[in-house]
Amino acid sequence: MKFSSIASGLALAGAAVAAPSTDFALASYPTTTVAGVEVIDTPIVRAARSFIETYYKDYQPYLTNHLYRTWLFGAAAINNNATLKATLDLEVHAVGCMLHDLGWDIKPHSPYTTATYTFEVDSGRFAMDWIKNWTKVNGGAAAWDEVRLQKVNLGIMLQTFIGATDFVFPDSMWITKSVGFEFPVGESPLIGSKNYDNIWKAYSNSTLFRGTNYTFTNMAVYKPAATYTTFISDFGKNYVKGYSNAGSTLFDLIQGGLKGEVAEYPNVPFVQKIPPNGGNPLN
Ligand SMILES: *[C@@H]1O[C@H](CO)[C@@H](O)[C@H](O)[C@H]1NC(C)=O
Ligand SMILES: *[C@@H]1O[C@H](CO)[C@@H](O)[C@H](O)[C@H]1NC(C)=O
Ligand SMILES: *[C@@H]1O[C@H](CO)[C@@H](O)[C@H](O)[C@H]1NC(C)=O
Ligand SMILES: *[C@@H]1O[C@H](CO)[C@@H](O)[C@H](O)[C@H]1NC(C)=O
Repeated sequence: MKFSSIASGLALAGAAVAAPSTDFALASYPTTTVAGVEVIDTPIVRAARSFIETYYKDYQPYLTNHLYRTWLFGAAAINNNATLKATLDLEVHAVGCMLHDLGWDIKPHSPYTTATYTFEVDSGRFAMDWIKNWTKVNGGAAAWDEVRLQKVNLGIMLQTFIGATDFVFPDSMWITKSVGFEFPVGESPLIGSKNYDNIWKAYSNSTLFRGTNYTFTNMAVYKPAATYTTFISDFGKNYVKGYSNAGSTLFDLIQGGLKGEVAEYPNVPFVQKIPPNGGNPLN
């Protein structure tokens, strides 16, 4: 065996070992162009697109545009970085971006919304179910193992927990990061002005914030208890008559424990020693 064939044999073996559970990012996958952005074009991605194009038509058309922009901003940023483009699971990214707000649904008897969980949790769990349901009917379930499903779940569930996905799977982080591109402080240099112009032109943002304002306020109406410890409580307090999370915040929980503890252990002194940094671990 010639050295070159041994070397390439080793490289192949190495690639097989290093490859993630599925190889969507590494293999060549079909692509298409949407609003000037090259994007992955597999059957499940097409299904997610047609879902968000039809499902929100009647009541939440701003959501269709928001979900498309989220995906396309992210895809544009990824395309601008050859390393990312070659290593990320672009199917996880696409499907995760497009299903990231399932919990915003307001249709009667929605299969994507519960009274128990926050919209972030509902969106993540039902995105996994959506994928499982789709693969059950259309095949490809083996390619969607628990790791890929959880990558989608994490990227969606942690979307409003700023910074939380910086140290999880990059595929999850890029879902959250793509959502973040929608709430910008100026244009991100990762995306580029031409992409911004094309994407905004194809998927207008003209009612995003009014739709968001309605949707969040409405959550404080139909599932108040699930909003008490979250930022949605601010929508309730500002806009919903009779809404109050007094007594139900995490502060209240700790204060209750504090009272009980002092009553239970009145004779145990509490002395907080202060280190030379004044208690500031950053100094
Ligand atoms: C591309 O992305 C990788 C991985 O996040 C990062 O380390 C690198 O700095 C990026 N390159 C550029 C040119 O932004
Ligand atoms: C998945 O399919 C089941 C059975 O049809 C259905 O009850 C459920 O609502 C579906 N879930 C999602 C998230 O689409
Ligand atoms: C909405 O789109 C317009 C271009 O149509 C853009 O100028 C503006 O910055 C966008 N607003 C947000 C919040 O992204
Ligand atoms: C935001 O939502 C509240 C509650 O529905 C509404 O009263 C308010 O007018 C909305 N703000 C705008 C600018 O649409």
